[in-house]
Amino acid sequence: MGKSELVAEINRLRKEKNAVILAHYYQEEDIQDIADFVGDSLALAKKAAETNADIIVFSGVHFMAETAKIINPNKKVVLPDMRAGCSLADGCPPDAFRKFKEKYPDHTVVTYINCSAEIKTMSDWVCTSSNAKKIINAIPKDQPIIFAPDQNLGKYLMQETGRDMVLWKGSCVVHEAFSIEKLLDLISKYPNAKIAAHPESQTHILKVANYVGSTAGILNYIKTTTETDTFIIATEAGILHKMAQDNPNKVLIPAPVDEDNSCACSECAFMKLNTLEKLYRCLRDESPEIVLDKELIEKALIPIERMLAIS
Ligand code: 13P
Ligand code: SF4
Repeated sequence: MGKSELVAEINRLRKEKNAVILAHYYQEEDIQDIADFVGDSLALAKKAAETNADIIVFSGVHFMAETAKIINPNKKVVLPDMRAGCSLADGCPPDAFRKFKEKYPDHTVVTYINCSAEIKTMSDWVCTSSNAKKIINAIPKDQPIIFAPDQNLGKYLMQETGRDMVLWKGSCVVHEAFSIEKLLDLISKYPNAKIAAHPESQTHILKVANYVGSTAGILNYIKTTTETDTFIIATEAGILHKMAQDNPNKVLIPAPVDEDNSCACSECAFMKLNTLEKLYRCLRDESPEIVLDKELIEKALIPIERMLAIS
């Protein structure tokens, strides 16, 4: 099927089945263009919480679709490619995390939403990059904290909040790929450029950034900053689609990565497993579907609801 037929079929099926298509900013352009809503992790979780659709087609990665299912246990949640994982979620296996947590019995556990449902059942709070600072600040100052699984976001939060936290040593392969040497070269080539970075990036990248925030935060920063028209963006390159639409007259340069690759940018191979064709098939077949145990859902929902209530 060609692109226009796929688009027509997706439009027909979503109406017929009362389905909503939610997509993350890192999805390929065709998916972002057809989605009912495109957002960052927090906005997508909120959207999932308020939808009246019978089927949620979650075009993002597995932990995001899983979160949508936890929030909507009675709805069908499908993901175009079940292999769309995440290095942060994969790098925090439940058994190892349980043992880690046992070493700090009096600590409050704050986990970044980029983790499995089972890790969420072991958490007091879930957070995203949009609300992490607010959540850490809401926990009494004398209460020790474990932050997992992203050590880069964790280090950034420690610096921002002045809190000492025990960190799980996970990271995002996409945001760790940026080269500080190449970024510094680029800054000297474009001395007027402002640098925006996602907090999953390493400390040396965040140090040179003028703005640090979630994908939605970065989009807002680029849109509202008027002192320059040139920006270097240190996050996954899928974000440039919306950014270019919002800012047709600004120069948007993706931050360079260590390894030479075709786009000279950082792309999330997990996110890019989803395609328009797979989205069509999963809407048509209502599969692959996210299926979770009832008890797991009930336990994982607690820290997610706590997060949504404060956000
Ligand atoms: P946000 O959408 O919350 O900024 O997170 C980025 C990310 O890496 C999602 O996997
Ligand atoms: Fe996970 Fe990083 Fe990909 Fe986001 S960009 S899904 S954190 S691997």
